[in-house]
Amino acid sequence: MNSTTESGTTIAERVEALLGRMSLAEKIGQLNQVGGADFAPGPKAEDQIRAGGAGSVLWLNNTQRFNELQKIAIEESPSGIPLLFALDVIHGYRTIFPVPLAMASSWDPAVPEQSQAVAAKEARAAGLHWTFAPMIDIARDARWGRIVEGAGEDPYLGSAMAAAQVRGFQGDNVADPERVLACAKHFAGYGYSDGGRDYDPVYLSETQLRNIVLPPFEATVKAGVATFMSAYMDLNDVPASGNHFLMRQILRKEWSFDGFVVSDAFAVGNMLIQGHARDRRDAALRGIKAGLNMDMSSYTYPENVAGLVADGALSVAEIEELVRPILAIKFRMGLFEQPYVDENRLAEVLAQPENRQTARWAAQRSMVLLKNEGGLLPLKTDLQKVAVIGPLADSMTATEGSWMVFGHEPAAVTVLAGIRAKLPEAEVSYAPGSEIRRDIPSWFESLMAGYTGEPPQTPEESESAFQTAVSTARAADLVVMVLGETALMAGEAASRASLDLPGRQEELLKAVADLGKPVVLVLLNGRPLSINWAAEHIPAILEAWEPGTEGGHAVADILFGDVNPGGKLPVSFPRKGSHAPLYYARNITHSPEGSQMYNPRYWDGLPVPLYPFGFGLSYTTFEFSNLQISAPQVKVGERVTVSVDVTNTGEMAGDEVVQLYIHQKWGTDTRPMRELKGFERITLQPGETKTVAFPLGPDELTYWSTNANGWIQEAAAFDIWVGADSLASLHGELEVIG
Ligand code: GLC
Repeated sequence: MNSTTESGTTIAERVEALLGRMSLAEKIGQLNQVGGADFAPGPKAEDQIRAGGAGSVLWLNNTQRFNELQKIAIEESPSGIPLLFALDVIHGYRTIFPVPLAMASSWDPAVPEQSQAVAAKEARAAGLHWTFAPMIDIARDARWGRIVEGAGEDPYLGSAMAAAQVRGFQGDNVADPERVLACAKHFAGYGYSDGGRDYDPVYLSETQLRNIVLPPFEATVKAGVATFMSAYMDLNDVPASGNHFLMRQILRKEWSFDGFVVSDAFAVGNMLIQGHARDRRDAALRGIKAGLNMDMSSYTYPENVAGLVADGALSVAEIEELVRPILAIKFRMGLFEQPYVDENRLAEVLAQPENRQTARWAAQRSMVLLKNEGGLLPLKTDLQKVAVIGPLADSMTATEGSWMVFGHEPAAVTVLAGIRAKLPEAEVSYAPGSEIRRDIPSWFESLMAGYTGEPPQTPEESESAFQTAVSTARAADLVVMVLGETALMAGEAASRASLDLPGRQEELLKAVADLGKPVVLVLLNGRPLSINWAAEHIPAILEAWEPGTEGGHAVADILFGDVNPGGKLPVSFPRKGSHAPLYYARNITHSPEGSQMYNPRYWDGLPVPLYPFGFGLSYTTFEFSNLQISAPQVKVGERVTVSVDVTNTGEMAGDEVVQLYIHQKWGTDTRPMRELKGFERITLQPGETKTVAFPLGPDELTYWSTNANGWIQEAAAFDIWVGADSLASLHGELEVIG
């Protein structure tokens, strides 16, 4: 924060000098983020800005308007402090990348890093300074809609993906005019909402918080993230936006975070609704006391903080402490020198071909091959009659996925378009089949570009569409079914109790399978789905997630063998929604699976995942051998190297993700039966062998023990596995001694 600027003064000196000139009202103004959309409370944005009452504006996506509002801030407000313009650029601004859950499926940090670098370049060219991403909530309940926005169930993979996104957005200098500020959200524990019900309260032990939920957030601090966002929900009966433990103890005291925290939307005012704050004045007081710098558009701070200071409930020093990092970041970004955006820049950036090339590459690396019986895939390009069937087969919005920026016009290459481009000579027919809709519409619907408000199909229309799809399939030699969820079936306010294919999709799949033709299933979805019937009866299944603008080309690249899929699942796939939360890193219990004592937990069906964490197939095959541990015994604090040989035993070049798992066999605390502690995606030519090595030492073997009230690494014996997914069987042992 204290880098010296050209004028020879440090950032801190410039901040103090500016603070010294600001009124209390202006200091409070910096803590206020004004909604640029008409649903935001409080006076008109320009009036608040003109009075020096705004530090940032969100929910606006208009380059010219950005400059207009910035001009008011610079030329008409008392101290002329530039605004930060912020928006949710979660996986792309105009070029849309795979959703974050898909990026995590690549198990390649270069995918989120390069994707978010393009997103930053486009967003900054549009005039945005700050994105509300990465979302890094660990999610182990697939019913929770926002699982789509994170990196899945594992803190080790999640930490790698979170840091990579921060690097992509921010680069190594936020003064770079092609970068934006990142925002680690939602701090913290949001993914543990009871029952996967979005916004519901969260109860977490300190063990769960520190060993599972917090590591990805700490990884972003180490990567230099500029901002955090506090979550909506109660964490152990204290709303995250008024939570001292999170924002004072963890974030600032333990991690020495020097950026600033913005609340989630209206979350300061929401403390009243949640039954936590007595009134809005109390809510503002709790937010400030807990260390929440910026109130996102609830207008609670502007309305109450001056009065709290006048009453002596807050001091000016407490306000200034929260203002400093906001001003410091504006200085670091160079906004005082260059507050405006070149209104011609966006068109130049969007014209760069590498943006869509990166999107296609990211989508290819994010897809996961779940099944390929009898080598049905890759398909031959001499196919004459292919039917592409399903409600998502030609859906641009489902291909781009959840969290589109305001005003985004869908422009994705759909799976149908991708297959047609790959088979220009063939007859590629299409039928959507019965439409699918949420039982309860999303309140985000009206914000979606392309939302028409059309009434749902009548039963007759649905049946007619169903029959047309079956007859279209009947006329083809091979059928590609594109099924899953619409963009609003996952994401915010999109939790669901079931993980089944919505609507009549499975019925249509069965009807098409009954025709006796080869069927390939492509999934477009934002969460694990309980595709139990398909897993048993459909020969080839590709998990494509929500792959973005180039999704259709990437699917066709994989289906026809131009790309060999190498993605792996970052989440377990439950067989039923009611099996959630389901995850691999569980404690063993006294009735472990596979033992005499094993009790299958549910007598109405085994809760083992349909597909395990880390699972994914390839068009080639791999063999793991020669697991080596550099020493059988090591002292606490020392490290060993674990190495393994991986061979491509097939006919095609391909990627494998080598995964290292450990299990501490006894200790102060019981530890999970397996924990990911290393991974590397490698490419092997047919017949090629590579040796992959991982360090194993204090960084990997230390854990938080609430019993011991601290971070500990213990003398104990460890199981070690290395393989291609969380069921890896190549095993070794390590003894750590005191
Ligand atoms: C939303 C989301 C948050 C987003 C914010 C601003 O409700 O919870 O992830 O960044 O509001 O749009």
